[in-house]
Amino acid sequence: MKILVTGGLGFIGSHTVVELQNKGYDVVIIDNCSNSSPDVLNRIQSITGKEPVFEQFDLREKNKVQDFFKRHDDIIGVIHFAASKAVGESVEKPLLYYENNLSTLVYILQQLENKTSASFIFSSSCTVYGQADELPITENAPVKIAESPYGNTKQIGEEIIRDTCKISPNLKAIALRYFNPTGAHPSAEIGELPIGVPQNLIPFITQTAIGLREQLSVFGDDYPTSDGTCIRDYIHVVDLAKAHVVALQRLIEDKNTTNYEVFNVGTGTGSTVLEVIQSFEKVSGQKLNYKIVGRREGDITAAYADTTKANTELGWKANNNLDDSLSSAWKWEQKVRG
Ligand code: WQD
Repeated sequence: MKILVTGGLGFIGSHTVVELQNKGYDVVIIDNCSNSSPDVLNRIQSITGKEPVFEQFDLREKNKVQDFFKRHDDIIGVIHFAASKAVGESVEKPLLYYENNLSTLVYILQQLENKTSASFIFSSSCTVYGQADELPITENAPVKIAESPYGNTKQIGEEIIRDTCKISPNLKAIALRYFNPTGAHPSAEIGELPIGVPQNLIPFITQTAIGLREQLSVFGDDYPTSDGTCIRDYIHVVDLAKAHVVALQRLIEDKNTTNYEVFNVGTGTGSTVLEVIQSFEKVSGQKLNYKIVGRREGDITAAYADTTKANTELGWKANNNLDDSLSSAWKWEQKVRG
């Protein structure tokens, strides 16, 4: 069975391609390489022994999307990762984010809505909840006003899919709301490759530990948490990748209850920034150079998932804990920079 993975050379996309191949799917990747490298193809092949089919073009080119689906009319499912995802950048360049993240989604769905049957997995985010009123966060938590154009594209994207599924019963879709993806494949062949100064905590930690960055700034220790620093749910990228395969299988095997479903994908455990640092120091055996500074604009105090729905309905559960994620992230950093 042939599956399209858009953004399949990226961090989460590449790990998902590996898990799809491990399950025997034929994978075709579309990626414009704006935030990834074709070298990842060889790395995927070194893990699975199979090189995915790859086409490099920009999904904003509607005619190329139409041509692609004419040539690959045997695609039965799509996992859609391709999107811009830097929260800060989206505030400075909103139109770039609305065009890139939404027009591409529409062009893909237009190709699927007339198929006799199609399964679609959407890369969504816990950012749709903003600062949830209750913790842990369930899928019934209200979607809040987005704090950034990036977060808004995830909210609007979910609505576009929901509305399309309403009039296209042959289209089955699942939105996966990720918490904080982190870590790397145990082979250290693939992992996170942030361009420039990392915005996210874990790559900044590993780059500080390897000497690429001078010091980690901890953005605030005056939050109402156990140690004053923010709480997040750090999920290992391999667990996250496996959730995509399980969700796709659910749709292919018609086990879904409605043709548009939403699942939170996290570990269900929240960790403060200082707990992450302590965990990293434990698994790496290295002291980390950090200092406490002021809060970062837009940060919420705490977010971690209620994973009951994914555990019971998807039959999926994260197997890796924070130490596993940080240990794999550190192994990857040492391999890439070593
Ligand atoms: C985590 C914590 C920071 C960097 C990310 C993505 C978002 C979504 C969810 C996908 C926060 C603190 C960070 C640093 C720090 N993912 N921090 N120093 O903000 O939860 O959101 O995951 O859709 O798109 O951006 O993740 O890693 O940036 O921050 O103290 O140098 O680490 O304040 O409390 P965040 P993050």
